[in-house]
Amino acid sequence: MSTRLWVSDDFESLVGQAAQWLIQAMVDHQADSNRPFSLALAGGSTPKRLYQVLSQTAQQQGVDWYKVLLVLGDERNVPADHQDSNYRMIRENLLGGIQIPDDNILTIPDPGGDATVAAEKYERILRDRLTKRPDGWPMLDCVLLGLGDDVHTASLFPDSSALTQSRRCYVANWVAKLDCWRMTATFPLVNSAERVAFLVSGASKSSALQALWHSPHDLHRFPAQGIAPQRAELNFFVDRAALGSVVPPQGLVVETD
Ligand code: 6PG
Repeated sequence: MSTRLWVSDDFESLVGQAAQWLIQAMVDHQADSNRPFSLALAGGSTPKRLYQVLSQTAQQQGVDWYKVLLVLGDERNVPADHQDSNYRMIRENLLGGIQIPDDNILTIPDPGGDATVAAEKYERILRDRLTKRPDGWPMLDCVLLGLGDDVHTASLFPDSSALTQSRRCYVANWVAKLDCWRMTATFPLVNSAERVAFLVSGASKSSALQALWHSPHDLHRFPAQGIAPQRAELNFFVDRAALGSVVPPQGLVVETD
């Protein structure tokens, strides 16, 4: 696994770099392949601006959304129109501005009810709709991830049961610190992707980057350390506020804008 660090002066530049990286990957894929480009979207607040930029520019730069499958990297266990829903955030910041068939948007059935049942249904949808690798794992062409202050990513939180999941690609996960259920892609699914990119912005994330890159390996304390795609390049799009005085690990390829 190679790792590339993209350092931007500010958040807007981070978004621009990540958007161009992703659009190029999608355009290149669509030029070379007949199968759809499967993109797992991160939740939370950081990616909102990226989704807005994608909705405004990707089609003009050659992305055919009819040849894209959109996946929820994780979701809160709330109805799809709830203010905390990642799907709602994606609908409001991306979907409203692009021409993509509803069937290409892989939504989680009945969120807000039984999270275990919803995650099981979504697992079946992913295994049905995504291309399979020879080892049988569904393959995502790109996974976008955020990074929590506690070094969680997707809804893989410290000390949660999903961290040890090795058979499933999507599970319900009880998050004790939030006293709520989440539904999330698992490490095996993310780590079988073709491309993985973290989006990390703001000074509040510096300590999480420090722990992620320099603390002893401990999945239960620092879940994002479990993101290690076997076949893919792992990308970090960070701004200088998030990087702060954190020294990137040896061997990272560093791109600056
Ligand atoms: C979610 C996300 C979560 C998020 C991080 C960072 O559902 O909230 O999947 O993993 O990416 O918590 O969130 P911010 O981008 O809001 O800082």
